[in-house]
Amino acid sequence: MALLISNPPDASALMEASRSFGNYDLAAALADLIDNSITAGATKVSIDCSYDGDVSFIRIADDGQGMSEDELKNAMRPASKNPLEDRSPDDLGRFGLGLKTASFSQARNLTVISKKDGKVFAANWDLDSISDWTMLCYSDEEANAHFIENPIFETVTEVIWRKLDRVTEDGAMSSEDFNRLLISSADQLSLIFHRYMEKQTSLTKKSIMLYLNGIKLEPHDPFKRNHPATQQLDTETLSVTGSKVVITPYILPHFSKLPPNEYERLAGEEGYVRNQGFYVYRNRRLIIHGTWFKLFRHGELSKLARVMVDIPNTLDAQWRITVDKSDAQIPTTLKRRLRDLTEKISNQSSRVYRQRGSKIHRTDVSPVWNRTVTKGRIQFTVNTDNRGISNFVETLSSSQKSHFTDILRIIASGFPVEAIHTDFSENPNNIVQAETEPEEIVRLVKELSEGLKQSGLSKEEVFDVIKTTAPFSDYIEIITAALNESGNK
Ligand SMILES: Nc1ncnc2c1ncn2[C@@H]1O[C@H](COP(=O)(O)OP(=O)(O)OP(=O)(O)O)[C@@H](O)[C@H]1O
Ligand SMILES: [Mg+2]
Repeated sequence: MALLISNPPDASALMEASRSFGNYDLAAALADLIDNSITAGATKVSIDCSYDGDVSFIRIADDGQGMSEDELKNAMRPASKNPLEDRSPDDLGRFGLGLKTASFSQARNLTVISKKDGKVFAANWDLDSISDWTMLCYSDEEANAHFIENPIFETVTEVIWRKLDRVTEDGAMSSEDFNRLLISSADQLSLIFHRYMEKQTSLTKKSIMLYLNGIKLEPHDPFKRNHPATQQLDTETLSVTGSKVVITPYILPHFSKLPPNEYERLAGEEGYVRNQGFYVYRNRRLIIHGTWFKLFRHGELSKLARVMVDIPNTLDAQWRITVDKSDAQIPTTLKRRLRDLTEKISNQSSRVYRQRGSKIHRTDVSPVWNRTVTKGRIQFTVNTDNRGISNFVETLSSSQKSHFTDILRIIASGFPVEAIHTDFSENPNNIVQAETEPEEIVRLVKELSEGLKQSGLSKEEVFDVIKTTAPFSDYIEIITAALNESGNK
């Protein structure tokens, strides 16, 4: 007859093994704890690190809602929640493990102290004395004594790591290397949580302030969304088992549009080619970035394409979110759609790359061609408001004006829609803008500025017009240099 016997794991062996669950580096481990703080409603999280032999520590403090004694005891238990449980839409957790696995991936000793309803409670796990699952607990004054002073805000919950064997490579790491590690971890956190750190546009969302050793971190937006030369392409919403996945492609500005330091920062340590691809956010928290999920190659021409993918926590199983929240896999049902989309986006990226960053739908530049949509029909006409054209029209007599307008209509009616369509579907990368020699541009711009000056505009106003008029807006460095030389600017 079969017998049911209880066969629990050996505490010490399991906890030692759990140190290798997931693929945490310092930044990923800190991010797992910041997830908990954000889920607990914190608006400030402060990370403080001290590297000083046996008394080294890393402390993560937040001003969230805190935990009661029972909640804290439960939080300290490995597998404190079932991953199958429904989570609230804003919850950044899933497995009931992160607090423990993230902490022990870096340190051997974990203390958590928290306040709630006027009471303080603290608990401590030490991997060197964990046999039999016994945990040290403190309440009231004894618990209070465990808080480390936080000059930035009043702490509600504090997580403290001591015995930092993994972080410091058993103390072999130099102070300089430790500082370098902190700086690179801070960079990663600014990227992982940038959407929480940015100013929020929705009234229901609060922004989070992250501090490292007293210094406030600034968000790092990998799409450079506030730059006028960044292109945002159409958003697509796809449905996976009833939940929405929102895909927003961006094409980064061409390097000629950015100061070198901003260009370098946007490139990241691994450069543009490696960092192109999907950026998957789970509840606005970055999980994985710079991958095309093997749908597409990391090419030189697509290096300016980055695609924001927003997934809700209801799809954790389908995206195979890992315990350390640093990996995901694309559900099979989405593969085909994303492959099509990826090709389209990459074509757009290669055009920006080749055309020196000229923007297709720029609103701040007066184009040569107008694209109008009427009842779903798209038409292209020559934009007679473009100052390069209107300035010339002004010099004509009224009969010449109407003749010229007729000619522009003929040009628009001969716009080669079909040829463009065929070429674009067959060889999208081979269609390029007709090139204009820089000398020709300079000659044209000088003519335009003369005309503008005669119509009463100041030098500054003339330059403003040139900056916002296509095609001159794409050659602004060359034009500035030429105008400076001739004393025209
Ligand atoms: N800073 C905090 N403030 C308030 N509650 C917290 C905090 N950190 C952890 N908790 C509580 O402890 C629980 C366990 O945290 P833990 O990180 O181990 O698992 P999880 O967040 O539920 O899931 P995951 O393993 O995916 O991170 C959380 O569900 C939360 O209730
Ligand atoms: Mg967690």
